[in-house]
Amino acid sequence: MSTGVLTASYIGASILFILSLGGLSNQQTAQRGSTFGIIGMAVAIIATTLSDQITGYGVLGLMVIIGGAIGLFLASRVEMTQMPELVAILHSFVGLAAVLVGVSSFLGAGEGVSNVFAGLASGSQHASGAAKTIHDIEIFLGVFIGGVTFTGSVVAFGKLNGRISSKPLMLPGRHLLNLGIIIGSVILGVVFVQSEHSSALIPLLIMTALSFVLGVHLVMAIGGADMPVVVSMLNSYSGWAAAATGFMLSNDLLIIVGALVGSSGAILSYIMCRAMNRSFVSVILGGFGTGTGTSSASADDGPKEYVATNADEVADMLNDANNVIIVPGYGMAVAQAQNTVNEITRILRDKGTQVRFGIHPVAGRLPGHMNVLLAEAKVPYDIVMEMDEINEDFPKTDVVLVIGANDIVNPGAAEDTSSPIYGMPVLEVWNATTAVILKRSMATGYAGVDNPLFYKENSRMLFGDARESMDTVLGSLKK
Ligand code: TAP
Repeated sequence: MSTGVLTASYIGASILFILSLGGLSNQQTAQRGSTFGIIGMAVAIIATTLSDQITGYGVLGLMVIIGGAIGLFLASRVEMTQMPELVAILHSFVGLAAVLVGVSSFLGAGEGVSNVFAGLASGSQHASGAAKTIHDIEIFLGVFIGGVTFTGSVVAFGKLNGRISSKPLMLPGRHLLNLGIIIGSVILGVVFVQSEHSSALIPLLIMTALSFVLGVHLVMAIGGADMPVVVSMLNSYSGWAAAATGFMLSNDLLIIVGALVGSSGAILSYIMCRAMNRSFVSVILGGFGTGTGTSSASADDGPKEYVATNADEVADMLNDANNVIIVPGYGMAVAQAQNTVNEITRILRDKGTQVRFGIHPVAGRLPGHMNVLLAEAKVPYDIVMEMDEINEDFPKTDVVLVIGANDIVNPGAAEDTSSPIYGMPVLEVWNATTAVILKRSMATGYAGVDNPLFYKENSRMLFGDARESMDTVLGSLKK
């Protein structure tokens, strides 16, 4: 394929990616956005494969088949609730790829490793003078960002699937340790750029090891409640790692796509920090989520009592209500209760009850998790409200159904300064006349903190799997 056609394909793919991001910003256009993204990626892969720089088709084909098969197998098995883990581990691949491409680019991968990327990855051998310095800096930065992304994402994966404790690891002098690693890496970078090619490998490898340590340490220091921000932040890092790889390989498309992912991930992290009332810098440095992670209610509160209810009572409450707000959380996703919830919504609306949904920005386990589930169940978009749009309406609401949500409705976030989630805006469901909380037990939510909501006078606990409870309520309503 000629360079002109390749460049035109890359520009086309870039435009499709931008259209894709635009589409994904809204529920109604999200599907179209995904389609643009898929077509863009197909164009990019085909154009790159057919470009003159790619020579080793045998190895490439084999790798595509093996990688594609593993990806297909894993993605088809993953539950919606495991998406953040999948995203985290995929970020780690991008980081690792940046490290490997960087090191092989330095070594001149053409000879030793494989000739698939021979044409792309031989820059450092042929460049000289200023061009060589710039290329060396690209390699060094790419490997550094890739290294942090790689190990940080592996730790995030472990924390999200529970293999690593979600409690923050607070080493003494942890900020100094981070600073030391960054300063050490800068010094190694200067040595790397100034060294002869034969002796530059050592500083590159030492920095790689340091970046691995930094990635582990940064994410280990972050508490469970802040993991959503970490996932989107690692998403951003993976984008910058890809962009750095694009510079190393002189691949314009990779630079553009990396910058798109890097900047949209950074914007998402910022939006989430604002939604959770967190300082971006503090989250990155592990300054939040530092509580014990056990209880936000103090031990001297005395015995805590809650009132249990049953499905028939809840159906009566809903029948008598003029205004209902439904607050879904992670438990609704686990129980897959969204279709029954939609059915109940339809019945109540048909008899003139105002029913709306209140969505917290970090409800569930990934951004937009609840919106996706509700859209799948065909809940009308216009009754699905963001937290800011609905929080003031709780005092005028007769019944709130909290379905498998916990942290996002925790009054401790507003009232208890010792709570690890203190300062995070929450849905103030306790201001309604009655709040019915559907969950299986008195267990804590993701952040591991007790929830004083359950013990409020106007709270009623409906225990059981949310799907089963909703099915029984639906049965009672139909009677
Ligand atoms: P959580 O605080 O995790 O609470 C979910 C509740 O659902 C649990 O208390 C659990 O109680 C209940 N539950 C689980 N399975 C259930 C089932 N089958 N039926 C009924 N209830 C069930 O969820 P949330 O309120 O949605 O808050 C989200 C949390 O996740 C926040 O802390 C947030 O920071 C974090 N997080 C969010 C994201 C994003 S981006 N959204 C990513 C990572 C982490 P039982 O065990 O007693 O049933």
